[in-house]
Amino acid sequence: MSPSLITVSYLGAAALFILALGGLSTNVTARRGNLFGIIGMIIAVVVTIAAFVTAHHEVLIGIMIVGGVIGFVLSRRVQMTQMPELVAILHSLVGLAAVLIGFANFMDPTIQYTGVEKTIHEIEVYIGIAIGALTFTGSVVAYGKLSGMIGGQPMLLPARHWLNLAMFIGVIVIAVEFVGTADHDQAIMLLLAMTVIALLFGIHMVAAIGGADMPVVISMLNSYSGWAAAATGFMLSNDLLIVTGALVGSSGAILSYIMCRAMNRHFISVIAGGFGTSGGTSTGGASIEGEVQTIDIPAMAELLNNAKEIMVVPGYGMATAQAQHAIAEITKTLIGKGINVRFGIHPVAGRMPGHMNVLLAEAKVPYDIVFEMDEINDDFPNIDVSIVVGANDTVNPLAQEDADSPIAGMPVLEVWKGKTTVVLKRGMAAGYAGVDNPLFVKENTRMLFGDAKETLDALAQAI
Ligand code: TAP
Repeated sequence: MSPSLITVSYLGAAALFILALGGLSTNVTARRGNLFGIIGMIIAVVVTIAAFVTAHHEVLIGIMIVGGVIGFVLSRRVQMTQMPELVAILHSLVGLAAVLIGFANFMDPTIQYTGVEKTIHEIEVYIGIAIGALTFTGSVVAYGKLSGMIGGQPMLLPARHWLNLAMFIGVIVIAVEFVGTADHDQAIMLLLAMTVIALLFGIHMVAAIGGADMPVVISMLNSYSGWAAAATGFMLSNDLLIVTGALVGSSGAILSYIMCRAMNRHFISVIAGGFGTSGGTSTGGASIEGEVQTIDIPAMAELLNNAKEIMVVPGYGMATAQAQHAIAEITKTLIGKGINVRFGIHPVAGRMPGHMNVLLAEAKVPYDIVFEMDEINDDFPNIDVSIVVGANDTVNPLAQEDADSPIAGMPVLEVWKGKTTVVLKRGMAAGYAGVDNPLFVKENTRMLFGDAKETLDALAQAI
């Protein structure tokens, strides 16, 4: 394949990846964005194989078929609520690939550089393996935490920041040795030593992050996996891999920043670990003081029928109950009665960015009644009824009231400012961050206990 054809194909694929990211920014264009991404990736893979693979095609194609089938089956089986776990484990594969390619590349006897080029190549290999290794173990631990295989509590070793610093200095010192040595065997030993430190660093970094900060970790690992791929691109002199890695790396970093802002966290503090711990007295599920007032289906139906302004606030419970279709049906009925129904979405509601938007889109809730938190938070004083469907942390007033709370400072949907709030959940359990929620005992709050889908199905009949 001619070099110019490769360049043009790679440029086309890179443009498609950029269009894919653009498309994924809104629900309406997301499908198209996905399609652009798929076409770009097909071009990238086919051109790379045709241009650079000169032997053993059957092995490569065989492995791709096995990997493709595994990926296909897994993605068909995975539940929407397990998506962050899937993303985490996929990041780990990117990290592992960067490590393996780094070693293979360094040990390849056909690759011979001298002088400055040799130094640059060694730095590329070193950085690629370092980021890849910490992405690998960090993602595996994140997967373990999200899937419940490892406890969600942060592991806080006594001198953990010093430990991180020591590991970081170790990686730098080994890097100097590695670039300075002319002995190939010694260089491999140094690479191995650094890899072990980076693997441990990845475990320690993510293990120290707990509770509510996990979404940031996932997007941060997403970003790392991109930078690992970009470093691999430099190592292999593959322009498309550099561009793609940089796109993933920077979009992951931007997403991490946006989520940190949504949760009022400093990015560095999140990475340094330790948030999501029980920072004060307010963790646990049973110690809120005050009386819980319940409501039944007929009373709730009457409340809704008499309302003019309704705000639905969905959360993780809506996803687990798969209650999006039931709430969509209720919304349709109420709008048909001339009631203004809107949805308020917290940026980290659910378990992944855009989780609620995806579910509501699936249930065909019109996009123009779905609002981001910042767009509607000031409207709550005008709301007659807020229906909180399986949300908890994202509507917790403690975020504003208790400076010691693990979620202190996180912006929340101020549902309690409306006339009446009805909270649909199964019991009094805490949400993801393990924090009590005084919303449930506020004077204008009514609890409608039960599985959200069953409750909403009954409510749909009643209204
Ligand atoms: P959460 O605070 O996690 O609360 C969900 C609530 O849903 C629980 O209190 C639970 O109470 C209820 N629930 C569970 N199953 C239910 C069912 N079948 N029917 C009715 N209710 C049910 O939810 P949230 O407000 O969406 O907050 C999200 C949290 O997850 C935040 O802390 C966020 O930081 C974190 N997080 C977010 C992400 C992203 S990127 N979105 C990723 C990871 C973590 P019962 O058990 O009493 O029913």
